[in-house]
Amino acid sequence: MKQPVSIQKPEGKLGILLPGMGAVATTFVAGCLMARKGLGDPVGSLTQMGTIRLGKRTDGKSPAIKDFVPLYGLDQLAFGGWDIFPENAYDTARHAEVLSKDHCDSVKDELSAIQAMPGVFYPEYVKRLNGTHIKKGKTKREMAEQVEADIKTFMKTNGCSRAVAVWCGSTEIYIEPTHAVHQSLAAFEKGLDDNDPMISNSQIYAYACLRQGVPYANGAPNLTVDFPAMWELARERQMPISGKDFKTGQTLMKTILAPGLKARLLGLRGWFSTNILGNRDGEVLDDPESFKSKEVSKLGVLEHILQPEINKALYGNLYHKVRIEYYPPRGDAKEGWDNLDIFGWLGYPMQIKVDFLCRDSILAAPIVLDLALFMDLAARAGFHGTQEWLSFYYKSPMHAPNLYPEHDLFIQSMKLKNTLRWMMGQELITHLGNEYYD
Ligand SMILES: NC(=O)c1ccc[n+]([C@@H]2O[C@H](COP(=O)([O-])OP(=O)(O)OC[C@H]3O[C@@H](n4cnc5c(N)ncnc54)[C@H](O)[C@@H]3O)[C@@H](O)[C@H]2O)c1
Repeated sequence: MKQPVSIQKPEGKLGILLPGMGAVATTFVAGCLMARKGLGDPVGSLTQMGTIRLGKRTDGKSPAIKDFVPLYGLDQLAFGGWDIFPENAYDTARHAEVLSKDHCDSVKDELSAIQAMPGVFYPEYVKRLNGTHIKKGKTKREMAEQVEADIKTFMKTNGCSRAVAVWCGSTEIYIEPTHAVHQSLAAFEKGLDDNDPMISNSQIYAYACLRQGVPYANGAPNLTVDFPAMWELARERQMPISGKDFKTGQTLMKTILAPGLKARLLGLRGWFSTNILGNRDGEVLDDPESFKSKEVSKLGVLEHILQPEINKALYGNLYHKVRIEYYPPRGDAKEGWDNLDIFGWLGYPMQIKVDFLCRDSILAAPIVLDLALFMDLAARAGFHGTQEWLSFYYKSPMHAPNLYPEHDLFIQSMKLKNTLRWMMGQELITHLGNEYYD
């Protein structure tokens, strides 16, 4: 990435396109509409409520992030997307039962007007769903062309000058990025014509979006934009891409706790995590092939934070297990239990138990907003390819092929804020601070 000489102004309207308009997507849209009217605060959103320190600690300069970098405002956003069920955003939000009826009703007219466009749906990638609101086409190429046509129509109808996409669709089955079709753009495009089985629904959306100049953020663990053909397309179209899998409940906790234990050199013998959740996401994850994508995304976290290969005595013998149980009575109100078997001085054992009674979509909604606004900022600043500085938002952050991912939430936060400072030509903050003692 080159330091931007200038950043295009956020003029006109920004379209936020959501492939997959379920619980997370509608909670996000309803929240933005409510915040716009002053009916609720966008809690958890760095772009709306975060500040950034500039200069020395003695300078007393900590502007709001939205005043420091040129972002689109909430009143400049237009929302749209695709789903394989025909409900409008109001009906979906009511069905998801994340927000109260009163909250949904407070923005009922706007939500009801958002009608999902028919989805691209080959059911073999999400086995638990039977979509009815779907596109028809002989080849995957034809499907991509229809998505491109949708994007053009959406932008025209809504008067958008720009758009950005955030995948909020279901988790697809696990696909390794090792197949021939993933290795180059030419092979991928041939695969679209040949209906190659290694090209999933989400990859078709991503291909169409990037071709239409729409940056693409991936909120699920699917293999969507993290393979050489998509990197090539992103480079060719000068488009930012990022992923994978929103970092919300249990993994957020993990990436808060693990860096603390490591910083104090406390050992870990075992970390068992289990969840119960009863929303549609939980139902999809009940399928072992979709769970596999999630499991891979969740498991990598500890290994990269704790680095057992260089901290053998403390973490070389760690047993890490992650389970997700579909339990309908809980709906979106997930419960995540963690049991940590740790040890201290002379190896004496201790335990930590975490019981996080969280709300999945409430934690995910601000991430969708921040990703949409920051991905668009990246595009206006001329950044393209993998946006590693947005690792802060992901369970399984995309990174350059020769690097390991950075999972530590505090390093991720520093990296994100330093990228914003660097983008705006401000001094980076190292926290050295010896100048205060001269
Ligand atoms: N909520 C969280 O905390 C969280 C955290 C990390 C990741 N995620 C991921 O975000 C995604 C959305 O979660 P959710 O709770 O909103 O799930 P959800 O089931 O409520 O919504 C997903 C929507 O995607 C739709 N869909 C599936 N395949 C599609 C396709 N090919 N085209 C268009 N639409 C399609 C489904 O019909 C559904 O409406 C899931 O993949 C989930 O794993 C959520």
